[in-house]
Amino acid sequence: MEKLPTFSILESSQWSDYELLDSGDGLKLERFGSYTFVRPEVQAMWHRRWTNQEWNSAHAVFHPTNEESGGHWELKKKIPERWEMKYPIASAPSSIGKEAGPGEIRFWAMTTPGRHLGVFPETAPHWDFMAELIRRTLRPVKVLNLFGYTGLASLVAAQAGAQVTHVDASKKSVTWARENQSLSGLNEKPIRWIVEDALKFVQREGRRGSRYDGIILDPPKFGRGPKGEIWEVYKSLPHLLDGCRQILTDNPLFLILTIYAVKASAIHLGQLMQEAVSDPTGSLECGELVTREKSAGRLLSQAVFARWSSRPSQP
Ligand SMILES: C[S@@+](CC[C@H](N)C(=O)[O-])C[C@H]1O[C@@H](n2cnc3c(N)ncnc32)[C@H](O)[C@@H]1O
Repeated sequence: MEKLPTFSILESSQWSDYELLDSGDGLKLERFGSYTFVRPEVQAMWHRRWTNQEWNSAHAVFHPTNEESGGHWELKKKIPERWEMKYPIASAPSSIGKEAGPGEIRFWAMTTPGRHLGVFPETAPHWDFMAELIRRTLRPVKVLNLFGYTGLASLVAAQAGAQVTHVDASKKSVTWARENQSLSGLNEKPIRWIVEDALKFVQREGRRGSRYDGIILDPPKFGRGPKGEIWEVYKSLPHLLDGCRQILTDNPLFLILTIYAVKASAIHLGQLMQEAVSDPTGSLECGELVTREKSAGRLLSQAVFARWSSRPSQP
């Protein structure tokens, strides 16, 4: 019988530039840098703790047209077109030739038509996890970031000393990611920026014999490649993970998968991941990425994840 993955709740506690202030009644109130935003959050079924006055003082409110996507921002107060935020990477032992100790990445945040602001703060525990694995490894490390969006995972990996390949279907997102690279002062770091369909890219790398020590992927439920290639998570993900398995090195460091807003249990992702790595010596973990609200300390689950690392499980 196969060993079941460990189940974990991962919470990021390090952000000074991000806070979930309150949640409830299908909404969340968050702070990104100095600005506060109200966004829909259907799973926040409980009641808000802060007063209407506190909620009404938000800088902007997102009004969705439907649950999945689309809608518009209503600006209540003046905010800049974009503003700077930073994330301090947790400290970890450094290895020869790798960046010493903890670091920081800087990036631009802004309101976008798809309700997002250029960062998914709840994925930060994966960044720390990945940075530590990269720093602890003495050999050069190659990392692939699929569906890389604004590049934050790519910058964390590069800062920790990896050679990074970043893939996203959107030219606009890749431009934003490159601006974040400059803002972080990481222009000298080896990052390949690629506008491509993630599945096509992985399959091509497989044929070319390219190999990666670590892969991080954050696929959307539905997406399109630059040539209209259709990404549909339930159908496409098994093919993508098959491809990932082929391009991992013989002695890989990690495979990290996060999924938002889908009806998928973390256990199912963990079991899917089990097939993709088939290495009994590492540790396989699955669970939920959460943020804790400031108002009442309730946890808001934002995504499910599964991740494998070569580091053996804790006894
Ligand atoms: C960060 S991911 C997912 C974000 C978030 N987890 C969500 O569900 O909205 C979104 C990124 O995937 C990219 N994307 C969508 N379809 C893609 C595809 N077929 N190949 C590569 N990237 C794709 C988008 O351009 C976007 O930057």
